[in-house]
Amino acid sequence: MIITQIKLKNWKNFLDVDVPLHERTYLLGANASGKSNLLDVFRFLRDVSKSQGGGLQKAIHDRGGIKMVRCLHARKDTEVKIEVSLAENGEESQTWRYVLAFKSEPKGEHRVLISSEEVYSRGKRILHRPDENDKNDPARLTQTAMEQIQANSNFRDLVKYFEETTYLHLVPQLLKFNDQIGGQFLEGDPFGQGFLERVARTPKTTRDSRLEKIGSALSLVVPHFHELHFIKDDYTGRPHLEAKYAHHRPNGALQREDQFSDGTLRLIALLWVLYEGDSLLLLEEPELSLNNSIVQQIPILFQHISRNRRKRTRQILTSTHSEALLSNTGIDPKGVLLLESAQEGTRIRTINEREAVLLKDGFSISEAVLSQTALDTAKQLSIYN
Ligand SMILES: Nc1ncnc2c1ncn2[C@@H]1O[C@H](COP(=O)(O)OP(=O)(O)OP(=O)(O)O)[C@@H](O)[C@H]1O
Ligand SMILES: [Mg+2]
Repeated sequence: MIITQIKLKNWKNFLDVDVPLHERTYLLGANASGKSNLLDVFRFLRDVSKSQGGGLQKAIHDRGGIKMVRCLHARKDTEVKIEVSLAENGEESQTWRYVLAFKSEPKGEHRVLISSEEVYSRGKRILHRPDENDKNDPARLTQTAMEQIQANSNFRDLVKYFEETTYLHLVPQLLKFNDQIGGQFLEGDPFGQGFLERVARTPKTTRDSRLEKIGSALSLVVPHFHELHFIKDDYTGRPHLEAKYAHHRPNGALQREDQFSDGTLRLIALLWVLYEGDSLLLLEEPELSLNNSIVQQIPILFQHISRNRRKRTRQILTSTHSEALLSNTGIDPKGVLLLESAQEGTRIRTINEREAVLLKDGFSISEAVLSQTALDTAKQLSIYN
């Protein structure tokens, strides 16, 4: 299943958004244009949908309250609204549509209340709130049907889909120095600190075959790198990744993840999540720490792994600033979204006619589109030299 369309009202720096999403969607925009804020919509839906330790109130609270979530440019209409449509891969017709709108109570406790929640299954509305029960007991409007097992039985597949959304922004240092830092994890582990535990939890056969494929991919790009294995430390019982580094001695040397380069670790995590599950995958700037020649291959890697999987492809939404990544001519321009800051928040658009002509003439996304995300004012940074 993939998300085919997103509509937003008053979400963070977006006043009004209505854009299509594709199996591979690339988000382009200057710093602070809202790429991470857009990805956060799907993390928000994931947090709302969690029946344990989740829910609407916690998802808003974790983001600093409704004032942080609601667009600062919102004037009279202060309702925050998210609407997503989903379809089976390769199918035109809509499978699900979910609408969630909320705002704070004008008086009293100023609770955040749901102003509308709707679920459509193949075009037929199967949930419509506020309903009679909500009207009789407004406190019910503090909880979505999504987060309540007794209320979501008719659309559990949708709940599960949102719940399984993966966000990856692996920070190698957090993984390498996890023990020294004290091992505090943020919920959902967005920075990959728990990556090794995730590998450890995977059944052995799946884990070994995945690591073998990842190891052989890495041996193509990381000098002297051979054979990637999972091990458990005999003494502490902690999970580790181990690789063989070939050198002048016949058996080479074994190195653990804390000795891997930052780029190697990021690449391992990236390849691992591409093999894992078929839910929505949110990737923040996968180009970080990687050499341009590898970054350029990332779109191909996405395609290659999708083809090799028995399960259906997973939808990947990627934020990027990378010229190298976007110079790959295999990227489908339909999946490119441009975030442009305007007076009243950020607008999102697809490729325009002029850019489409350039792309037809053989220019890459990097040449035809990315160059427009550069800020004129950025040139002024040179005065600080
Ligand atoms: N509620 C809000 N209303 C308006 N603007 C907001 C709101 N919340 C955050 N912002 C703005 O959103 C911007 C940050 O957006 P975000 O982190 O998504 O940018 P980005 O495109 O991911 O940038 P980068 O490329 O640097 O990672 C900040 O300028 C912040 O002020
Ligand atoms: Mg960002």
